[in-house]
Amino acid sequence: MRILAIESSCDETAAAIVEDGTLIRSNNIATSTTMHAKWGGVVPEVAAREQLKSMIPVLTETLSPFQSQQKTDYRQLIIDHIDALAVTVGPGLIGSLLMGVEAAKTIAFATGKPLIPVNHVLAHMYANFIETDLSVASYQLSGKKHTTNNQQPTTNNRQPITYPAISLVVSGGHTELFLMQSPKKLTWLGGTIDDAAGEAFDKTARLLGFGNRGGVAIQEAASQHIPTTNNQQLTTKLPRPLLYEDSLNFSFSGLKTAVMREWKKVSENQHLSTNNSQLIASFAYEIQEAITDVLVAKTMKAVSMHNAQSILLSGGVAANLRLREKFHQTLNSSRLALYYPPISLCTDNAVYIASYAYFRGEPVDWHAVEAQPDLSVEI
Ligand code: KG4
Ligand code: ZN
Repeated sequence: MRILAIESSCDETAAAIVEDGTLIRSNNIATSTTMHAKWGGVVPEVAAREQLKSMIPVLTETLSPFQSQQKTDYRQLIIDHIDALAVTVGPGLIGSLLMGVEAAKTIAFATGKPLIPVNHVLAHMYANFIETDLSVASYQLSGKKHTTNNQQPTTNNRQPITYPAISLVVSGGHTELFLMQSPKKLTWLGGTIDDAAGEAFDKTARLLGFGNRGGVAIQEAASQHIPTTNNQQLTTKLPRPLLYEDSLNFSFSGLKTAVMREWKKVSENQHLSTNNSQLIASFAYEIQEAITDVLVAKTMKAVSMHNAQSILLSGGVAANLRLREKFHQTLNSSRLALYYPPISLCTDNAVYIASYAYFRGEPVDWHAVEAQPDLSVEI
């Protein structure tokens, strides 16, 4: 089954064609990220206008692998080559969501193809079901036997995901834990009560002077950190909120305040310049350690509560190399399997929207499909 999916929940305009929920046939993304740089965050009005500009070019480019010679009858192309349509309906920015939703409804109206509404946050985890050369079904422990079942999604090393799985979705707007008992059966276990992990990376990155380069900038700076005995660095530990609490909730809003306080203290007390690269690197290192410590600990708590067989990581923060490394270290002597998508499929795209639609979506009469900016993930 071939699904054409559209994603437009924030500042990316994306479309993809995916076969049977796992095989990418076409994948295109346009982003307005750099346009928001001078405001220090996404400007919804600007994002929506850019969605409008990019939607048709991204869609036509996505369909181009199916185009024969000069034919540009896209309606006919969809009728001939696509079985169903999928679109992100929420959560996200209303102006951005509307562009994708209205485009998808128009295509459904013009072609008569079924339309599947998709929850963006739940869909992130289905990036783990995609087969690509880059796909990393990374961690398999000796002694673990797998039976191959073609009904089950597999990642590139052909090992099917084993259930129950604990799925951690960590993006710019969400930090959520789910129990996945099958590709269809999901239960929400907990999430952030304030800022998301990605938001914590983004806000603290701005404090360190990295503009809107967020988690990637923190990761790069952290890798430059060299622990030394001289005092040109942060030596205090930042808070790891809710680390020892029984709940599976997260809280990251205190991190920004703690970084501000420590930054002021260290630079004033030691008369250090705030563009001292070692000082910045030490802060970046500790920020990354604090966030990833909490993410790993809470995920492992969920694993033991539900006797899970695998862990699935997804969302933009799942691109973080230190987070992946910590999971590998933690799982070193266990029998759990760890899955994470290639970096290009961690951040927003339409591939996982199509995959979710295939494994878990239900078609809805296109008249009834609506943008839902506050769509809940607590299922
Ligand atoms: O999933 P995503 O592309 O968009 C949302 O749905 O929110 O996630 C974007 C988030 C941003 O907060 C960004 O800073 C973070 O993912 N991110 C990272 C890394 N790459 C992207 N955070 C930490 N380390 C990274 N390497
Ligand atoms: Zn996302």
